[in-house]
Amino acid sequence: MRRLPLSEALGLRTGARHSLHRLYRPADLVVLGLGVMIGAGIFSVAGRQAATTAGPGVILSFMIAGIASLLAALCYAELASAIPASGSAYTFTYVLFGEVWAWVVGWALLLEMQLAAAVVARVWALYAAQTLADLGLSLSLPPGVLTAFILGVLTLTAAVSARIGLRALWVIVVAKLLAIGAVIVVGALHFDAANLGGFIAPHQPASNPPDTLLGLVVGPTGTFGWFGVFAAAPAIAFAYIGFDIVATASEETLDAPRAVPKGMIRSLVIATVLYIAVAIVMVGMVPYTRISESAPLAAAFAAVGENAMVHVINIGAVLGLTTVILVLIAGQTRIMFAMARDGLLPRGLGTLSRRYHSPSRVTLVIGVTAILLAELAPVLMLEQLVVIGTLFAFLAVSAGVVVLRRRMPGAPREFSVPLSPLLPAVSVLATLWLMVNLSVQTWLSFAAWMALGVLVYLAYGRRRSLLAAPVASGRGRHRR
Ligand code: ALA
Repeated sequence: MRRLPLSEALGLRTGARHSLHRLYRPADLVVLGLGVMIGAGIFSVAGRQAATTAGPGVILSFMIAGIASLLAALCYAELASAIPASGSAYTFTYVLFGEVWAWVVGWALLLEMQLAAAVVARVWALYAAQTLADLGLSLSLPPGVLTAFILGVLTLTAAVSARIGLRALWVIVVAKLLAIGAVIVVGALHFDAANLGGFIAPHQPASNPPDTLLGLVVGPTGTFGWFGVFAAAPAIAFAYIGFDIVATASEETLDAPRAVPKGMIRSLVIATVLYIAVAIVMVGMVPYTRISESAPLAAAFAAVGENAMVHVINIGAVLGLTTVILVLIAGQTRIMFAMARDGLLPRGLGTLSRRYHSPSRVTLVIGVTAILLAELAPVLMLEQLVVIGTLFAFLAVSAGVVVLRRRMPGAPREFSVPLSPLLPAVSVLATLWLMVNLSVQTWLSFAAWMALGVLVYLAYGRRRSLLAAPVASGRGRHRR
């Protein structure tokens, strides 16, 4: 239960140990947030959930997931402003709850980001193949080759540049926003309220065994109807994943205590507005029973005769998903880097490349693992595992605000969650509600991953942690 002293966590920023270069300005963080959030969630998951689970009520699912994310984001913002160090939820938990919990949260974050990068790369490959075909360049490459290609290119980009190609990120995010803007404007021209039907689609009771954890308790919940709206919300939460990753850039941000909360909340609010607008036009263009599960937005525009929009969507998705993968890889490097720097993972992973001023070694490990995962595992069926890993960190961060207020009431911070402890408590409940609507299979897989994590900690981190070693032994925290 040893805790990382706050002064130690902040010492990283005052040069007590090597630290990452400070590069990001406030506007960069908004771009980082939008770069990682707007991706497979809106281009792919949303349509699938509308077609199979929620119908037009998917708009409400977006609102529910958005409110839960906003509550968590407020909590992240306060902790990031009080503890602006690399490592995000992992480091917050280390300071507030202690090492075991920090390890557990870090382990869940590794699952979230590693798997998310693999999932989004697979979706990228599908859109890239379609875009190449649109351009008349049918290379007939298997999707696996394209997946490995994009992960390889982006891993190298992140490995050689601490700025993770910041200029390129700006350009691509603007292009992605233009594509989303076109979807909303052109889609609105084809909006027909009749397609919304009764808004909450007729409930279809399930005859099969209960799938979600909630269903296990209350009996089969079926699809569509109000249960469908709630069941779709955690899947939709996939679209919001990423605002939390902004916090991993804290150590590299100028005036982080002020800039990180702003960047995180602004990017989340912009993404929420865009998502709800896209969801409205999507279910307003075609009846939900006709939404394609594989290419929801493109098929909806094709159905209303807007064929040019199909190309805009395919190109927008290729660009958009590229930045999602890039920021996911970069964000994950910062978490692993922090865990290795603390001694909980091999210390060699916690070094910066002298040449590139970037944690290049850990970036390569992450890239290779993502390629293997994407090639060998059915990652497109594992989206919910990404979500549960993220929601687990939301729980720790929301509870962390209450602990911070109690344990360190005087800790300086530029942002405070309003109405604490009420809002953090509501955030915990909202997150738990999303979690019980995840499938039992997801819970079992998550439990297995976490059990493995505890074993790894007992076998390695517990003894290798820098907090386990007295400073005098030469393995102290301040050694460079
Ligand atoms: N939010 C990101 C996406 O939807 C992970 O692709």
